[in-house]
Amino acid sequence: MTDHVHLNLFTMASVEHVSPGSWTYPGDRSPEYTDTAYWTEVARTAERGGFEAVFFADVRGIYDVYGDDREAAIERAVQTPANDPQLVVPAMAAVTDELGFAVTRSTTYTHPYQLAREFSTLDHLTDGRIAINVVTSYLASAAENLGLDERMEKTERYDRADEFLDVCYALWEDSWTDDAVERDREAGRYTDPKQVTPIDHEGEHFSVPGPHGCEPSPQRTPVVYQAGSSDRGREFAAANAEAVFASQPTEEGVREYMTDVRSRAAAYGRDPDSLRFFIGVVPIVGETRELASAKHAEYARHVDVEATLALLSGFLDMDLSELDPDQKVEHIETDAIQGTMNAFTRSQPDREWTVREVAEFCGLGTTSPTIVGTPEHVADELAYWHEEVGVDGFNVKEVVRPDSLADFVDLVVPELRERGLVPPADADSPGDTLRERLLGEGSPRLRADHPARESSD
Ligand SMILES: Cc1cc2nc3c(=O)[nH]c(=O)nc-3n(C[C@H](O)[C@H](O)[C@H](O)COP(=O)(O)O)c2cc1C
Repeated sequence: MTDHVHLNLFTMASVEHVSPGSWTYPGDRSPEYTDTAYWTEVARTAERGGFEAVFFADVRGIYDVYGDDREAAIERAVQTPANDPQLVVPAMAAVTDELGFAVTRSTTYTHPYQLAREFSTLDHLTDGRIAINVVTSYLASAAENLGLDERMEKTERYDRADEFLDVCYALWEDSWTDDAVERDREAGRYTDPKQVTPIDHEGEHFSVPGPHGCEPSPQRTPVVYQAGSSDRGREFAAANAEAVFASQPTEEGVREYMTDVRSRAAAYGRDPDSLRFFIGVVPIVGETRELASAKHAEYARHVDVEATLALLSGFLDMDLSELDPDQKVEHIETDAIQGTMNAFTRSQPDREWTVREVAEFCGLGTTSPTIVGTPEHVADELAYWHEEVGVDGFNVKEVVRPDSLADFVDLVVPELRERGLVPPADADSPGDTLRERLLGEGSPRLRADHPARESSD
């Protein structure tokens, strides 16, 4: 566990992320997601508040599982429309110095040579402040739009993701030596060709001879984030992730998840304590308890239940419109997001959830705990998760944008700083890159015990 908490803003380059209906709240500025000025303001506020990174979720396809129809998703802005998050990053990086950016990318619908180039570019342009959240995508509609007849099943998606990252690691870590770039004007030699080698990858899904087309960027491999919760997803996280998003809504679930992924990571020869675990939280804060409760009630009034069901139907790959609202949610092994399913069927063995209860709970931030109260109360809760449960950081989920972020920065962060849980604004940073800030170690490179380094050194 790190000595202070790491804060990410969990957002999406779209009208709605995980609080369906909140864009209808008076004063919410989510529809400005199409404006550069909106994102540069968010970046400045997040940096002022000691956030380590802005974490962009992203999705391919449209949420059309609910009612077997895309109408609800389109009408109610269920993560649609959404822009490509990675294109927003350079503008945000240009107005900040230390803020990092975690961008979600799917290994199912792109090619590793292409993605490696994009992230090397982003790492250069941000001076080493970039992370990738590796996902395999869950909506069948994405597959149909991207050249496949149907969605690949999960095991195959993860097999492809394994090979995908192997190719990327080889391009990022092995293809160019540290001394390859000489920039020798007199000799007219920019790069020593002997120090740039092919990767000669021939696999089941990809054939990539290389070499990489970009010179080494500050971190080479971007910081790797993952949020897998199925057995296969946990294994993938253990082998690859430097930061892991634990999506369980209960303390027991989070503890079990962290212990399990850490022990799987040890089996790959990694120091299990080097993995950083984040949970999502939905803080709703007011100067007094009454003000916070009133704000919560107002936010809850704007929850769009039908949009929430459309979102969850996509997460679960289960058409919730077919179920009676008072029907109990039964566990299934889903080909979509197992973590969302487990949240309601596995994480509290004694609790049964009806469809209605799930929709009400998820309307504000989906499966993450909502913390309503004064700055002191929110800080107490975060301190508990950090000090007692052992999580390293929080993905702060917004309800109203950008007010939820501003509330957190102006009210909660001073309290966290007061308690030493967030470093002061003028504190020395462990390094210039996102990886150095996340791991607190003096190297921008992947740790030597990461499987990608072991194969390359
Ligand atoms: C908290 C959380 C956030 C996620 N964010 C995204 C996302 O932005 N885009 C996406 O395509 N998948 C996202 N996923 C899906 C996964 O990373 C993973 O691919 C999916 O959950 C299927 O694997 P699993 O059943 O092992 O979790 C997220 C999952 C969780 C639990």
